[in-house]
Amino acid sequence: MTWATSGSPPFFPGASVARATTVDIRRKKAEGVRIAMITAYDFTFARLLDGAGADMILVGDSLGMVVQGQPDTLPVTLDEMIYHTRCVSRGLVSAHLTTDLPFLSYQVSPEQALLAAGRALKEGGAQSVKLEGGAAMAPTIARLVEVGIPVVGHVGLTPQSVHAMGGFRVQGRTESDAARVLADAVAVAEAGAFCVVLEGIPSDLAAEITAAIQVPTIGIGAGAACDGQVLVCYDLLGLDLRFQPRFVKRYAELETTVTDAVRAYIDEVKAGVFPGPEHGFTRSANALKRVY
Ligand code: KIV
Repeated sequence: MTWATSGSPPFFPGASVARATTVDIRRKKAEGVRIAMITAYDFTFARLLDGAGADMILVGDSLGMVVQGQPDTLPVTLDEMIYHTRCVSRGLVSAHLTTDLPFLSYQVSPEQALLAAGRALKEGGAQSVKLEGGAAMAPTIARLVEVGIPVVGHVGLTPQSVHAMGGFRVQGRTESDAARVLADAVAVAEAGAFCVVLEGIPSDLAAEITAAIQVPTIGIGAGAACDGQVLVCYDLLGLDLRFQPRFVKRYAELETTVTDAVRAYIDEVKAGVFPGPEHGFTRSANALKRVY
């Protein structure tokens, strides 16, 4: 029996056939169902976030900061993004997988963007790519969409432009800047992006954009009126308690949990309490028994 005659797709672990598609994501706006997007950078977190019901997983170039310890996202390379995307891809069953195109992998020309995005899909297993920028990136977005590569737009505070913005600053606070951000979002949506991340803009501007464009808006520091929200998983889980910007809500304080657990392990190692007899092996007859 073939897939066509059985009526159900073949199941391969991590296969993209069962994952939410761009059509599923777009439909949520029409249905008034909010979209929950979270970043992930490795297999283990991807498995947990997918299992918890995330609609979209973003392999953000924020990994430059939270995984690599860089001051901003600029040093991240396309090869690094593809490596992490491949790791995340193996952990997903039902969430849509999108990945960031890193700084200078797409701004040179639409053809450069096409090659970078193509690698993210072919080698990384992503279903779509996210790229930063407004009206100036519209021809690039249109080119990717034309060849069948779905694009997530990203306007407002665009971290790859940190130097041009003079730091990580809220955008669209003046009337003329708000008009620019709105025009950017409209241009990106009209170019064919299937959803648009709105980062670091006033809530009323995000509401205006959400009403103005047909595709879902996904907010981060953009208020409650967006069609969905995205947070960096390390931020929402409280893995670095030094970092508490206004737009982050912490749903756990894993820095404390991890530190306490590791301290307990260290104490037990030093006291000779771990490992106990139950963690060791005997010279049993069953020499072929697997360790795990
Ligand atoms: O890189 C990232 O994690 C992002 C999100 C914060 C939107 O772009």
